[in-house]
Amino acid sequence: MAPAILDTRGRSLRNLRVSVTDRCNLRCGYCMPEEEYVWLPREHILRFEETAQLVDVFLDLGVDKLRLTGGEPLLRQGLHELVRQLADKPRVRDLALTTNGLLLPEQAQDLRAAGLKRITVSLDTLKPDVFTALTRRPGLERVLTGIEVAARLWPREVKLDAVIMRGTNDGEIESLLEFARERGVELRYIEYMDVGGATRWTSDAVVSREEILERLAHRFGRIVPAGKSGSAPAERFTLSDGTVFGVIASTTAPFCRACDRSRLTADGLWYLCLYAKLGIDLRGALRKGASRTELAELIARTWRARDDRGAEVRLASHARGPSVPADSLRVDPHLEMHTRGG
Ligand code: GTP
Ligand code: 5AD
Ligand code: SF4
Repeated sequence: MAPAILDTRGRSLRNLRVSVTDRCNLRCGYCMPEEEYVWLPREHILRFEETAQLVDVFLDLGVDKLRLTGGEPLLRQGLHELVRQLADKPRVRDLALTTNGLLLPEQAQDLRAAGLKRITVSLDTLKPDVFTALTRRPGLERVLTGIEVAARLWPREVKLDAVIMRGTNDGEIESLLEFARERGVELRYIEYMDVGGATRWTSDAVVSREEILERLAHRFGRIVPAGKSGSAPAERFTLSDGTVFGVIASTTAPFCRACDRSRLTADGLWYLCLYAKLGIDLRGALRKGASRTELAELIARTWRARDDRGAEVRLASHARGPSVPADSLRVDPHLEMHTRGG
């Protein structure tokens, strides 16, 4: 294993999230609430071989955990081919995917065969009308079918992510856990974050980890902390029947101190934090012919200077509201959560 490259806070470069498209087939209210979006120019989107070349440099530097994201990654034509290329690399210890599940019924089998190891599906509601209101598209049935198919193909390696918003799906905290428990998949509750793109964010709409745990204890009885798994953002808990679930409290209790993740956008910009304003243009360097060594130097130098702790800084700021105004998002769509990978 390559020695870890450490940033200014001693956090290693280990975990890379690779966005393969900025497009999405849903319009979740916490992520894409606007009517119109500015998309990345098509010619800027990395070809699979370019993505794989950049990933190789990250692997040289000690990254061993990859997650494919979007937008909605299954919208990227032939995604399973990229999965195969990445899965074949011996230094890739973990290869996961985050999806909204709509296209899983038809693609899950190919992804499994290509070597995808784990999968996370967003599931915020079990009610078709709430789904349609929250995502501004129909499709809950297909998502539920996708989850069933995934649970069969990746036993014990499927997670469900639910962003809880007051007034939208906070009435479903208990039923979502029952749903996950019956299928043997791990549910994670995610606090609604004021990330770029969340232009309707208000602190009143956040349902905190504390409140979620109180509600669950009321329904299911004693909850015992199950210990964190390394740098993962979720704190895990166990019900008395052994059911494990997680809470990602990025809004009220950020995990910046242990954050080893960075993000490559579909057009090859590299971001060191979910809240970072600027990315490093790896596409430019690659397409100008930078060698593997030169790219490695650029990446290592940038990571060593990393000081980001975006969610902690947001927590400390007074009078919280959306972190990026809608007009700035239109000027630079890289500031959007859906562009830098949820
Ligand atoms: P595991 O390896 O399975 O633990 O995956 P993960 O939790 O890293 O991946 P996932 O895509 O499921 O992320 C879950 C959620 O955590 C995201 O949808 C975000 O809401 C939040 N999250 C992901 N990355 C970051 C990050 O860099 N910073 C913060 N503050 N929150 C993040
Ligand atoms: N707050 C929390 N999580 C978010 N995501 C997108 N926007 C937000 C937000 N404002 C995450 C969700 C979703 C994934 C793709 O991105 O977890 O499931
Ligand atoms: Fe929803 Fe994910 Fe699409 Fe954002 S990228 S609108 S969270 S499905």
